[in-house]
Amino acid sequence: MTQGLLDLSGAAPRPPPAGQLLKWIGNKQRFAAGILAAFPKTYGTYHEPFIGSGAVLATLAPRQAVAGDVLKPLVQLWQAVQQRPDEVHDWYAQRWHQVMEGDKVAAYKAIRASFNADPNPADLLFLSRSCYGGVIRFARDGSMNTPCGAHRPIRPEDFAKRLADWSPRLAGTRFVHADFQELMDAAQPGDLVYCDPPYADSETTLYGAQKFSLQRLFDTIERCRDRGVHVALSIDGTKRSGDRVCDVPIPSGIFAQEAVVDVGRSMLRRFQMQGQTLESERVSDRLFLTW
Ligand SMILES: C[S@@+](CC[C@H](N)C(=O)[O-])C[C@H]1O[C@@H](n2cnc3c(N)ncnc32)[C@H](O)[C@@H]1O
Repeated sequence: MTQGLLDLSGAAPRPPPAGQLLKWIGNKQRFAAGILAAFPKTYGTYHEPFIGSGAVLATLAPRQAVAGDVLKPLVQLWQAVQQRPDEVHDWYAQRWHQVMEGDKVAAYKAIRASFNADPNPADLLFLSRSCYGGVIRFARDGSMNTPCGAHRPIRPEDFAKRLADWSPRLAGTRFVHADFQELMDAAQPGDLVYCDPPYADSETTLYGAQKFSLQRLFDTIERCRDRGVHVALSIDGTKRSGDRVCDVPIPSGIFAQEAVVDVGRSMLRRFQMQGQTLESERVSDRLFLTW
């Protein structure tokens, strides 16, 4: 997969997308530029195994990448955005008119029922733009159960502008429906992997993430590092579960550095892996690096 190292530092810098294509809880839109600042200057293929709403990928706009997610209709949606943007626009516009020109909540519920009967990218797109808080939440039986949001979903004309901005940014990426381990185990020496996993304790019902295991992710990261694949892992230190700030235990010996990412920038620090972290600081986002 790796064909020599690409020097991305010489590539023309791309501004981040002006707006999100999907509304998605936990998206990295605001931090994407800061996360990219911590990436190495050169690497082979870029891999993003937890693609979600694609904020980091779209900002990077890589020439050669593989992106994946366990949520199949989401992967189908990204494939369509990349290859058939006009069709994606029609999916959105049709549902927008259905919702805005009738009983909004009833129309939303009908789209949600259609998605639950047959999970598909067209309904998922509209649900993400119109559901409460952009929270794609699943019940134990696997059905999407987020209520309708109070906001007005963006107009099809505005959605079209976002599509035109996003679609070319995905040109170099292959989207696959896969568990993270499959993607990461295929990464070659010199490649770069960016992981933004679900947060183990507070997000088990989000995005259908029930099968996620943080320990399996750490084991996979360690295997990557051992064969010369660079891995960056986002952990949001400020995420709250009830009153408790999530304290994700980071095993010692895997990561070499921690980057503290603020909106649009990142500060790199050598990470002394003796149990101490940067907990005392109020950080916006934390990025652990294997190099
Ligand atoms: C925190 S979100 C990623 C957000 C993304 N960075 C963004 O900017 O929108 C985590 C994603 O991981 C996916 N996911 C959960 N378990 C997974 C697994 N075992 N393998 C691959 N993806 C998984 C979820 O479907 C979700 O889209």
